[in-house]
Amino acid sequence: MTGLDLQYRRVLLLGGTSEIGQQILTALRLPPDAEVLLAGRDEQRMAAAAQRLRCRVRTLHYDAAASGTHQATVDKAFADGDVDLVISAAGILATQDVLDSDPEQAGLLVQTNFTGQVTTLLAATARLRAQGHGTIVVLSSVAAIRPRRANFVYGATKAGLDAFAQGLADSLHGSGVRVLLVRPGFVIGRMTQGLPPAPFASTPAAVGRAVAAGLAGRAAVVWVPPVLRVLAVALRLVPRPAWRRLRR
Ligand SMILES: NC(=O)c1ccc[n+]([C@@H]2O[C@H](COP(=O)([O-])OP(=O)(O)OC[C@H]3O[C@@H](n4cnc5c(N)ncnc54)[C@H](OP(=O)(O)O)[C@@H]3O)[C@@H](O)[C@H]2O)c1
Repeated sequence: MTGLDLQYRRVLLLGGTSEIGQQILTALRLPPDAEVLLAGRDEQRMAAAAQRLRCRVRTLHYDAAASGTHQATVDKAFADGDVDLVISAAGILATQDVLDSDPEQAGLLVQTNFTGQVTTLLAATARLRAQGHGTIVVLSSVAAIRPRRANFVYGATKAGLDAFAQGLADSLHGSGVRVLLVRPGFVIGRMTQGLPPAPFASTPAAVGRAVAAGLAGRAAVVWVPPVLRVLAVALRLVPRPAWRRLRR
């Protein structure tokens, strides 16, 4: 499938209420006979999200922190046929000062943002590999590039996920299955509510459009906004003493 109007017939959104995930679905302009599988924890919010989509929608229970359930969730998603697109958008954010005094919450963040992504995506990858086609969209972050003292647990989960997605993409080369790695900067929305926007902040809609455009092309990585690709090079070069003085 190529071109802007990719005709995805079945799409699995892991993190079915994710604002970015919803905006990716909107930007994809799915045909009315497409089926979207929203996988998440909150049935009510997923039902509300389903109403905004102009195609068939089913919901599946999915808890990213419950690794033992992921194979069954993936099996259910693929039970009725091929899945063309898997979007992995489940994630949580907590500031480092909160996590410093709550190691258990830090563990949950790692489980949700990293361990759970690995178990879910490996299960989905086996299915995609077997069907011989499909795309996986992974929501990493610019925080993966160089974790800061103000968010190093979150940054570590994204660095792990980012490395996993790169390796997964390479392992799938030639299989007919593609991985699109997405690295947004600060996105103004539910996840970042109450936090002052960082420079180059974007919106869930902008991320959705950038992902749809990335899927239509051959990119392996999408930065949102694109200037972050250049900025990331500079960020890696900041000397450590200066880097550790960053407050956020
Ligand atoms: N917002 C940003 O600034 C930003 C920047 C870079 C990358 N990202 C990444 O982009 C992805 C989507 O973020 P977003 O902005 O769309 O945030 P969001 O609207 O808060 O969405 C996060 C999603 O994760 C789900 N989730 C959290 N814990 C879960 C669990 N244990 N099991 C299943 N689902 C769970 C939430 O479901 P519930 O409705 O059940 O809570 C929600 O659907 C995340 O991976 C995030 O880290 C976000």
